[in-house]
Amino acid sequence: MNYQWYPGHMTKARRMMQENIKLIDIMVELVDARIPLSSKNPDIDDLARNKARLIVLNKVDMADPEVTSGWEKYYQEKGFFVAKVNSRSGSGMKEVKALIETACKEKKERDRKRGILNRPIRAMIAGIPNVGKSTFINSFAGKAAAKTGNKPGVTKGKQWIKINKNVELLDTPGILWPKFEDQMVGFRLALIGSIKEEILNTREIAVEFITFLKTYYPDYLKGRYSLEDLESSSSEILEQIAKNRGCLKKGNLVDPDKAALILLEDFRSVKLGRISLERPELQED
Ligand code: G4P
Repeated sequence: MNYQWYPGHMTKARRMMQENIKLIDIMVELVDARIPLSSKNPDIDDLARNKARLIVLNKVDMADPEVTSGWEKYYQEKGFFVAKVNSRSGSGMKEVKALIETACKEKKERDRKRGILNRPIRAMIAGIPNVGKSTFINSFAGKAAAKTGNKPGVTKGKQWIKINKNVELLDTPGILWPKFEDQMVGFRLALIGSIKEEILNTREIAVEFITFLKTYYPDYLKGRYSLEDLESSSSEILEQIAKNRGCLKKGNLVDPDKAALILLEDFRSVKLGRISLERPELQED
């Protein structure tokens, strides 16, 4: 599988982020709780060095809760503040506010000693496409949040959303691109639907996904598609799913491509269950 991004886009987005980072105290980085490694761009460590850091595990409603708690610990041990959030429902937003204030406590104290009072903490959101940045900003800011407008010394057009008396959020999120270091990263991003459908080989992804499910979520697979056992190869299992679901093509032949689409859709709509594709215990460092 080969995925291509446009370097032009990336350069521009990166430049914009570099400019915006100068204005903030804390970087709030959104990752997808189902793939907290593959949805993270390591460049951000360099871009946001010297800033307080908060990792938000978003879409926790779609991920395996136990695995998500493992990731929370994993990133905490690496020195990050970590929040677990469902941006669609708004759950976890209070914790995010509290963590931002905790993370910037020292800075506040330094300000106070220098006689700077009431200067709000400024935060920005960043993450790869489709990780939920806009949904998060809407939910975090809430309906009542008023925009503070342009301020002297701030580049024209920048809008800060007042979250409360202590915290302001930049209204435009920073966009990062995922790093396709190995094929598995591409596979996982494709599976969650972060890579455009046209350039995917749906069937290939479905077969790979079945192999994963056989190891980690065999009961979800068996239960949803009425499979007696998982002894056969992954492509044979896909054929079996097609049979059980009555997926047919011209000439009354079984259609595994249709079954592949069903499987992917069932995963993306959480009908298959809450599934995490990456596990902290499988990381070497
Ligand atoms: P982006 O700005 O980072 O590109 O992402 P965006 O907010 O557009 O969110 C991408 C998709 O992810 C949206 O779904 C959004 O509703 C969904 N989403 C964001 N956060 C969460 C979450 O915590 N839980 C769940 N379950 N979904 C989340 P969509 O289908 O593309 O759009 P829509 O149908 O919601 O309008």
